[in-house]
Amino acid sequence: MTRGVDELDHKAQIKVNDNGSLRITGDVELVDKEGNSYQTKKSFSLCRCGNSSNKPFCDGTHRKIGFESKPRAK
Ligand code: FES
Repeated sequence: MTRGVDELDHKAQIKVNDNGSLRITGDVELVDKEGNSYQTKKSFSLCRCGNSSNKPFCDGTHRKIGFESKPRAK
């Protein structure tokens, strides 16, 4: 399938949220180690704190445990 110019101009984005998840937005495929695809929406969040009960997705546990991390690009 050929992609249109508009689709090629839009990069997927991974946003490192303060004290929380990685927010993924755009046309990406999330796969496990064996290459099996997870069902995702156009935007979803991955756990960065390591405590989600629904890994690799964020389930909000980072708030309960007081996860703190505010990295900035340099
Ligand atoms: S970042 Fe949200 S549960 Fe880990």
